[in-house]
Amino acid sequence: MFWDKIEIIIGDITEQKVDVIVNAANTSLLGGGGVDGAIHRAAGPQLLEECRGLSGCKTGEAKTTKGYNLYAKYVVHTAGPVWQGGCSGESGLLRNSYVNSLKEAAKVGAKSIAFPSISTGVYGYPLKKASKVALGAIGEFFDLGVGNNIEKIYIVCFDDNTYKHYMEGLLQLKG
Ligand code: APR
Repeated sequence: MFWDKIEIIIGDITEQKVDVIVNAANTSLLGGGGVDGAIHRAAGPQLLEECRGLSGCKTGEAKTTKGYNLYAKYVVHTAGPVWQGGCSGESGLLRNSYVNSLKEAAKVGAKSIAFPSISTGVYGYPLKKASKVALGAIGEFFDLGVGNNIEKIYIVCFDDNTYKHYMEGLLQLKG
């Protein structure tokens, strides 16, 4: 089952030795704080140079750049939704961010991909809800049958509380 490919870990996404890391960016793709800032710092200035040429990214969409000084060969940038109370289509947009990021990773032949907890920081998406959407989206992606090349998906949590929510979500999936 797809969930055997998922591993929830605590760590810094910029240190992950995977083919693709996903950036929780904003729609400008011109950098920011949080994981966006960490990835740009670790990748170096060429990342921003390449992002400048992408003319932004709509919420829920995903665009790919090289990884530059990162171990990862590629960075997939996605803009997750800002939480506005749950009645503005946030869950569908968050799902799109995960599915579209996985589609981008599959396009470049990635075998391993690391996600941060998209939208649960500055964008305020409640962790319990976000973790369920994230895991459901990953399952949906594999149901599309285009993800056979992807062998490992890490969700890299930056703190224990985030880790707890994703672990609970994964254990519920496994039943
Ligand atoms: N590695 C892994 N996870 C990290 C790291 C890191 N180095 N740094 C932060 N995080 C975690 C945060 O603790 C949070 O759990 O990533 C998760 C997402 O938080 P944010 O980075 O704030 O992203 P998000 O909530 O999607 O908001 C995006 O923030 O940084 C700006 O430019 C970004 O405007 C965009 C907005």
